[in-house]
Amino acid sequence: MKAVVSVHAKFTVGKVDDRLFGGFVEHIGRCVYDGIYEPGHPEADADGFRNDVAALVRELNMPVTRYPGGNFVSGYDWHDTVGPKEQRPVRAEYAWEALEPNQVGIDEFVKWCRKVNTAPIMAVNLGTGSAKSAQELVEYCNFPGGTAWSDLRRKNGAEQPHGIRLWCLGNEMDGSWQIGHKTAEEYARIAHESGKMMKMADPSIELIVCGSSTRSMPTFAAWDARVLEETFEIADYLALHAYFGCTKEDVKKMEFFASPEVLEKQICDIIAACDFVAAEKKSARKINLALDEWNIWYRGNPKAHPETRWQAARPVNEETYDMADVIVVGGLLMAMLDHADRLKIGCLAQTVNVIAPVMTRPGGGAWRQTIYYPFYYTSRYGRGTVLRSHTDSPAYESANCARPVSWVRSVAVYREEAGEIALFAINRSTEEAAEYTFEMSGFSPESVVEAVEIHHDDLDAVNTEGCEKVAPAVIPAGVYSVAGGVLQTTLKPASWNMFRIRVRN
Ligand code: AHR
Repeated sequence: MKAVVSVHAKFTVGKVDDRLFGGFVEHIGRCVYDGIYEPGHPEADADGFRNDVAALVRELNMPVTRYPGGNFVSGYDWHDTVGPKEQRPVRAEYAWEALEPNQVGIDEFVKWCRKVNTAPIMAVNLGTGSAKSAQELVEYCNFPGGTAWSDLRRKNGAEQPHGIRLWCLGNEMDGSWQIGHKTAEEYARIAHESGKMMKMADPSIELIVCGSSTRSMPTFAAWDARVLEETFEIADYLALHAYFGCTKEDVKKMEFFASPEVLEKQICDIIAACDFVAAEKKSARKINLALDEWNIWYRGNPKAHPETRWQAARPVNEETYDMADVIVVGGLLMAMLDHADRLKIGCLAQTVNVIAPVMTRPGGGAWRQTIYYPFYYTSRYGRGTVLRSHTDSPAYESANCARPVSWVRSVAVYREEAGEIALFAINRSTEEAAEYTFEMSGFSPESVVEAVEIHHDDLDAVNTEGCEKVAPAVIPAGVYSVAGGVLQTTLKPASWNMFRIRVRN
């Protein structure tokens, strides 16, 4: 099979917002307790946070991390989470049927964020919570001092404001599973008032409004338009969530490997909803998108360990990722980059133990799952200007996509400061290698700085503690060439690849 991809220096999608490569820490399962936080573990620091976990998260280079949920946030009272730890209440946590000991609260989470070089995206409870409570939280976090809430923060040890810029107005409020689920009208009202009051406490904050929680919702797109019509004045971003899985029937993974194109359709549909509302309002404003939950999730089951109900840190939604998932996560990141003009924020859901790139064993080690690697490289090198690319590749029919899906997908990001193009490519064929040509008009490519691939003959291969079967490997220099403005190489079947090409332009 032959695939030819062409870019031109003058044809660009847009600048990548660093926040596209964010993470997500929810109070769910073993994400916080026995995940990022495990006092008594040999790797725990003075605050109880595991250094080995923090080191792996730091490497992922996530500029933002959404917190504290997820479904969890809809039953959450932030007042429980501050002050002396021994005085904090233990609560029944109804979203995931666990105990919440409140030993990690806002002030502790902000400390962890500093440790891993990320900034919190704080979600407020609009399920059972109120606009007043949301406003108080902004005041607690961002007011310098001199008010009861901000002085309480100072008394609790945080003299300087936390300075949290990004806030989510609730979580998946369209879903019947959500605690305090609402109709579009009910949600739009409370979101509007909460957002208005939160911006009174700190006008510099940015707000993410809940869009449809999945593309399969019967109210998909209509919910988004209805909510935006009411919240247009206070909304900065509209949220969308997307999880993908593989069915038993999809033995060759063809439908699963088409997930990036399915995500792309969802992104385009939500952009259309945003622009429809702007048109109704005769406004030139563009509401941008926050994909503040995305990943592969089909094996991890919230009901998996019924015997652990109403325990803290019970294992929930723990998913072991394989080689096939590398292709999909790599492709989803490509789809996100291809919409960098409107998609500004992304949160891989989640960061540790729960549908996550990093896994831990209580009292034991921490390790990288297979999907860690495409995220690591794309987050590290996929920042700059996305080049619009034209792909000429054989394609296959997918039941989930209106158009044929190219066996080869790639995205190129021009990293101006480094003088490089970062090229990411997947070959979705499990049988055929791809003779791949990348034509760069308007650039003078000089050399390949780094070439890596992720490939394993067994699509089911996984990484476990102390045994890493799926890891990046250097592509030998003889496998590719750069000459006359063109890179040529061979992409192995079912592989993810990255080339960093030094260019002049
Ligand atoms: O990430 C796990 C869950 O998925 C989140 O709590 C919820 O928002 C979504 O349904």
